[in-house]
Amino acid sequence: MGDILELIQTRRTIKSFDGKFVSWSNIAQILDAGRHAPSCGNVQNWKFIVVIEPTIKQQVAEAAYEQYEIAMAGVLIVICAEPEKAERYYGVRGERLYTVQNCAAAAQNMLLEAHSLGLGSCWIGAFDEDKLKQILSIPDEIRPQSIIAVGYAKEVPDKPPKYPLEPIVYFHRWRNRIRDPAKYCYDLAVLIRRKVDSATGFVKGTAQSVVDKAQGVAESFKKKED
Ligand SMILES: Cc1cc2nc3c(=O)[nH]c(=O)nc-3n(C[C@H](O)[C@H](O)[C@H](O)COP(=O)(O)O)c2cc1C
Repeated sequence: MGDILELIQTRRTIKSFDGKFVSWSNIAQILDAGRHAPSCGNVQNWKFIVVIEPTIKQQVAEAAYEQYEIAMAGVLIVICAEPEKAERYYGVRGERLYTVQNCAAAAQNMLLEAHSLGLGSCWIGAFDEDKLKQILSIPDEIRPQSIIAVGYAKEVPDKPPKYPLEPIVYFHRWRNRIRDPAKYCYDLAVLIRRKVDSATGFVKGTAQSVVDKAQGVAESFKKKED
């Protein structure tokens, strides 16, 4: 797979794993994708805890409100935030908002890299934070943000419905829509393609009706001959 949009569109949340081992080179590549995520002022205020040990995976799954399916993933990556690091530069906004966004960007990079490697993944946000911190000996000032479960998918669910662009995109101000953005933006490539498509449709339709008529005439001649 090469095209990033195709990767984004075809990634699915996988909750059913076959328990197969994930190679370290694959895990390292996924972690690498995480560390290349954008972060406020490039503070990179995250740490990634890799959980491969089955007994610890089981405990983590239990802390995730008994989402035991994730214990069958080859690896669980716990993305931990260092909020103080962002607070130093950006105050409360850095601590509360940027930190969450930084870790979310790392998480999404990891999901996409896992998918590009042919692996299934799941973003787990529901867990008992205190329990998880205790299991993984995470210090007080660090906040686990998400658990990224990665493994070989046993089942790939159908794509859940996603909103089309129209209801979620506004232009210039809240609730303001533009009927034909391609026309508004003078997107010549799109406008020319539309003209070509409509001309092609017209030519095809006309050609088909000529063929139908010719067939009709030929059949009537044939009947006369019979
Ligand atoms: C912040 C966040 C938290 C999530 N927490 C969980 C979770 O605890 N358990 C789970 O099964 N899926 C979790 N998910 C995955 C979503 O359920 C999933 O992304 C959504 O159903 C859309 O499916 P898709 O990822 O295949 O497009 C979470 C996703 C996000 C972004």
